[in-house]
Amino acid sequence: MKFVIANWKLNPLTQLKAKELVVSSARSAQKMRNTRVVICPPFIWIPYVKSVLKKPIELGAQNAFWEAQGAFTGEVSPVMLKSVGCQWVILGHSERRNIFKENDSVINKKVKCALDTGLKVILAVGEQEREEEVHLVSAMLEMQVENALEGISKQKIKNVVIAYEPIWAIGTGKAETPQGALNAALLVRKIIGKKYGHSAAKNLKVLYGGSVTDKNVASFVNQDGIDGVLVGGASVNPKIFSKLLEALK
Ligand code: PGA
Repeated sequence: MKFVIANWKLNPLTQLKAKELVVSSARSAQKMRNTRVVICPPFIWIPYVKSVLKKPIELGAQNAFWEAQGAFTGEVSPVMLKSVGCQWVILGHSERRNIFKENDSVINKKVKCALDTGLKVILAVGEQEREEEVHLVSAMLEMQVENALEGISKQKIKNVVIAYEPIWAIGTGKAETPQGALNAALLVRKIIGKKYGHSAAKNLKVLYGGSVTDKNVASFVNQDGIDGVLVGGASVNPKIFSKLLEALK
């Protein structure tokens, strides 16, 4: 089973458009055999998307707070997300890290709370600039993965999927090469192996994200060591998203 995670980011702008997008995405997803499609709309559309959502699409959020409840104005709790039908949450996305200044310790608290709530976590990691020195990328990924998963048990790691998203490739139209993405995915698997052992590494799902389109999606997903893709821009255009799924059939 390969994953296609659709990260709608701050789109679309109206409930009607959200409906059109989810209905069209579900229509395409229904034809897929070996693909799990997860849609991550903005918080405000989640209950509505859920109400029009047809199986087999799964539902996720793009963020969640690190406490379940309390005096935290403007935040959304993982418990609330679960109660409206979310199974997944993206944490550590580079836009959260860069624009909202979420550091590793914040991400770690969020991962813990989400997993304790019973949500599955899509943890995003990746280097800022294109980097030729493999050992630098490797050290960076190791630090991000280690810090985000500090104190997470071997049992809980089963509910974590890691998305390798080099920041320079996000929204730029300049995707990593399939070989480069595979190398990074293997690195991530190795880091998990070192921390949690061979079987955790073997069972881990590692995704690639960053300028994935209908044109290049198959070149990533067809790699044995890559278990799917995290798609931003191409997931909010109904035509392109349907072509993207089509390319994986
Ligand atoms: P992109 O975004 O597909 O638009 O590059 C990916 C992401 O941010 O997850």
